[in-house]
Amino acid sequence: MLNERLIAKTVAWGSRALQKRVPRRTPNQYLEGLFAPVSTECTATQLEIRGRIPAELNGLYARIGPNPLRVDNPAAYHWFTGDGMVHGVRLREGRALWYRNRWVGTDSVNRRLGRALAPGPRHGVADVVNTNVIGHAGRIWALVEAGALPVQLDAELSTVRHGYFDSAAALSYSAHPHRDPHTGELHAICYDSLARHQIRHVVVDRHGAVTRDLAVPVQHGPMIHDCALTAHHVVIFDLPITFSFGALLRGASLPYRWNGAHIPRIGLLPRTGNAAEVRWFEIEACFVFHAANAYELDDGEVVVDVVSYPRQFEQARGTGLDNSRTHLERWRLDTSSRVVRRQTLSEQRQEFPRIDERRSTQPHRFIYTVGFGVDRPRPEPLYRHDLQTGGITRHDFGPSQVPSEAVFVPRSAQSGEDDGWLLAFVGDLASDRSALVILDAAHVQDEPQAVIELPARVPLGFHGNWIPEAA
Ligand SMILES: [Fe+2]
Repeated sequence: MLNERLIAKTVAWGSRALQKRVPRRTPNQYLEGLFAPVSTECTATQLEIRGRIPAELNGLYARIGPNPLRVDNPAAYHWFTGDGMVHGVRLREGRALWYRNRWVGTDSVNRRLGRALAPGPRHGVADVVNTNVIGHAGRIWALVEAGALPVQLDAELSTVRHGYFDSAAALSYSAHPHRDPHTGELHAICYDSLARHQIRHVVVDRHGAVTRDLAVPVQHGPMIHDCALTAHHVVIFDLPITFSFGALLRGASLPYRWNGAHIPRIGLLPRTGNAAEVRWFEIEACFVFHAANAYELDDGEVVVDVVSYPRQFEQARGTGLDNSRTHLERWRLDTSSRVVRRQTLSEQRQEFPRIDERRSTQPHRFIYTVGFGVDRPRPEPLYRHDLQTGGITRHDFGPSQVPSEAVFVPRSAQSGEDDGWLLAFVGDLASDRSALVILDAAHVQDEPQAVIELPARVPLGFHGNWIPEAA
């Protein structure tokens, strides 16, 4: 293990040198337009609001994404590898108290900004935390997969420390833990670019203690961006994008590529079982970044709703994602025949599936997604999928409006599924500004409940969550 770590560190160091040799003439869409990083952190307390902010929304909407401080060779830059920046809007009793954006205090960011390094342990060779921001056990955490530790943020989004929740360990984590609404536990499937022979099932309890870290053997170092959780199982997506030394040596900043030699399979790991108890289901080659939810039926069948790609990361070089054929699917895992039956729920090009997370691990009726550009940002709708009726309702934000992931916030703890709001940052291609848009989740086609204009652009990014005031 030590040798593997030393080799990986050496190769990673060499890779940074190799990235400088990638031909520079190639423009990079992930550094332009609505993707382009912003250059300053700001705090704004006088926000222009159209409509009415629901008085029930008391808390913080926070979302993270890449915002590189410096890019040595734009042609070698990959969207997934930029320094993280968190953007947040705090709402209280119908008012928008502030908007803030803050870089996540990784070492390279703090050095470049002339700031003191944050306390806490470190892990991995990638000094980037940019993929998700969650509230858990009274704390706010910025997350990334495969390497760097979570970074704790304070209530105003400044970095507090690096750490593995309340554990003294220093291990890779995931950007997509799933909370069991009944136990309050976070379940995640974690991988580590330095340990390509295994993945790990990690459980963090409702108080922030790491209570389980189970290794599961795999081959080739698969990229496992997300998992899904049922009442009794964790669903593992062991699909054919794997660590690629070839890509590393060609100067790729994200050395993962489509691997036709990797047998695609879905695993059902009992939540308290051991690695030998994983039931594997072979599946036609595809890739999944995100699952909406999963649940078990009475006959033992497991239903998993995902956004699926037939291929991804096939280019030997380049920074682009192939988003042209993404769509929403339902997978039914037949536990007696070990067959996965796939059904297309929506052929629309879309990503960032979210549900009312009180339904997590149980049957859900609604999934919310947003359109996702093929090559460059373009106006995209939000989709509300009613899986009971098969109906799809959409919200079109406007002729120059590009939405990010939409997060569902329930009206109250007791309100029904779909009774609440969807919150999303929306970028404007025309004005180069962004807004936080609040839609009525049950009537997404209607005019927004409120539009909170922001003083700056929120670059197109990844994931966020609603962190209620009490949390
Ligand atoms: Fe993600």
